Amino acid sequence: MNKALRKAVIAGNWKMNNTPDETKALITEMKPLVKDADCDVVLCVPFVDLYAALEATAGSNIKIGAENCHWAEKGAFTGEVSAKMLAAVGVPYVIIGHSERRQYFGETDVTVHNRVRAALDAGLTVILCVGETLDQRKQNITMEIIAMQTKIALAGVSAEELKRIIIAYEPVWAIGTGETATAEQADEVNGGIRALIASLYSQADADAFVVQYGGSMNAKNAAELLAKEHVDGGLIGGASLNAADFATIVAAASK
Ligand code: 13P
Repeated sequence: MNKALRKAVIAGNWKMNNTPDETKALITEMKPLVKDADCDVVLCVPFVDLYAALEATAGSNIKIGAENCHWAEKGAFTGEVSAKMLAAVGVPYVIIGHSERRQYFGETDVTVHNRVRAALDAGLTVILCVGETLDQRKQNITMEIIAMQTKIALAGVSAEELKRIIIAYEPVWAIGTGETATAEQADEVNGGIRALIASLYSQADADAFVVQYGGSMNAKNAAELLAKEHVDGGLIGGASLNAADFATIVAAASK
């Protein structure tokens, strides 16, 4: 009903795969393929690849994001990168709370919240990842988990700041497994997230709010997922490392 109010966002999450040279080469290949996109196109890359990515995308319609940021502005946090540092190099987007961070690096709902706060304060746009594990889905607590993750992450975020938040629903069991949520499952949870946003903010805020799906989205299944009312784009891992596949997904999201 309100899908027309939202511009889709297709974001690649390149994870820990490419060197700066490989980043440049892949972007050079992608640029002409996505230049006519009628959706926002974002590529999120490792910290050391940000400069190369920003340089390679200058003047194009591709925007660059980081894959994480720290919650403090500065200080004794060896190995970390602050949101302010990302903003200073000209990075507009950052992924926060990816399930791989939660699973392997001790990320909690509270640290996700702290990072979201720092990213907003630095002027960045956040791609906030939420999602249930297979056990949680089997226990029928998917929406409770998603609601808890979302509410904690967004605590204290104003309606104005909400405009710089995108939520990516990424069921943990669908990430990198080749197993995709059905379009109906994705639409149901994404719709639940939108209803939650309406209850926390307003219906108008919820209608304008972008909710992506992520988890084995690829060139073959993207069109069906993206056709759903509440699927406003995708956060794509594996398939975003292939220029042609990524371009097919971008085309599917372009109205
Ligand atoms: P895959 O597309 O490889 O399943 O990864 C999804 C993801 O984690 C995007 O953030």
